[in-house]
Amino acid sequence: MKTRITELLGIRYPIVQGGMMWVGTADLAAAVSNAGGLGIITALTQPTPQALTQEIARCREMTDQPFGVNLTILPAIDPPPYAEYLQAIIAGGVKIIETAGRNPQPFMAALKAAGVKVIHKCTSVRHALKAEAIGCDAVSVDGFECAGHPGEDDIPNLVLLPAVAAKLSIPILASGGIGNGYQMAAAFALGAEGINMGTRFVATKEAPVHDKVKQAMVAADERQTTLVFRTLKNTARAFKNKIAEEVIRIEAQPGATDFADIQPLVTGTRGREKVLQEGDIDGGLWTAGLVIGLIEDIPTCEVLLQRILAEAREAAATRVAVLLDEQ
Ligand SMILES: Cc1cc2nc3c(=O)[nH]c(=O)nc-3n(C[C@H](O)[C@H](O)[C@H](O)COP(=O)(O)O)c2cc1C
Repeated sequence: MKTRITELLGIRYPIVQGGMMWVGTADLAAAVSNAGGLGIITALTQPTPQALTQEIARCREMTDQPFGVNLTILPAIDPPPYAEYLQAIIAGGVKIIETAGRNPQPFMAALKAAGVKVIHKCTSVRHALKAEAIGCDAVSVDGFECAGHPGEDDIPNLVLLPAVAAKLSIPILASGGIGNGYQMAAAFALGAEGINMGTRFVATKEAPVHDKVKQAMVAADERQTTLVFRTLKNTARAFKNKIAEEVIRIEAQPGATDFADIQPLVTGTRGREKVLQEGDIDGGLWTAGLVIGLIEDIPTCEVLLQRILAEAREAAATRVAVLLDEQ
């Protein structure tokens, strides 16, 4: 399969595994890359830039295919040493970076000088235009369906993708809500040249996540996620469990939300240790997107990618081909 995304990234299939805090380790990234897609290691899941250097080396031992690293730049009182993580990515010889959160402009010169291709995550047309203007090579357009941070505009991909495609020249990855090939075919019809998935990859054999979490995703329907941190203008889509419901209850109280009231419930440690490692579904906040309603099994990445490709081809040949009929 050949699109501007496969050409840009040097991959067989235009299917990318987006950065995922605590999930995007070398194990998952290598599995996706070996299956012909683009696996992405999540930089900040590694406790230090030195640990990221080791994780990049570990990934290289598991795959000879291209892989990328995600660097998510968020406002923080005590920010991680972003410049040092960036240096670890460049020095590690990684040639693809997925940036998210803040505008990556301060890092662009160093990335370009090192020949690193930049995919920036965007949740709006204006941010996609900005990404193109500062020299990003591609954008990943996260619709309202997505896990993690959908932004505050609430525009699903049926509208957001064609709106971005009408204005941009650089290639687009459709991201958010995608888990099968019928959706991939639809994304191509809307102007994307590849897809990016997060949630669907959590429910794969290789994802370093407790099996109970994967089973909960299989059991869930499409109503099983919710939006938290709305009142803080930092909206996040998460699995609708007891913790998420408690956060929403606190946010619904009159007056401005004090993050201190929520903070103990939503620490990264609870999400990582209690939920993802120990499998306690209600143990903390965990990120998931609407696509959990479409997940019915826990395949390997290889099986998943081949199935998506077969479904996409079937959709193009049968469901969409009727449009070519002139009668
Ligand atoms: C468990 C999990 C953790 C995530 N962590 C991050 C992150 O640290 N940085 C980031 O840019 N995106 C993160 N995302 C978002 C994904 O990279 C991707 O954009 C999103 O999942 C796409 O929507 P989908 O889940 O519907 O496929 C995360 C997603 C999940 C499911």
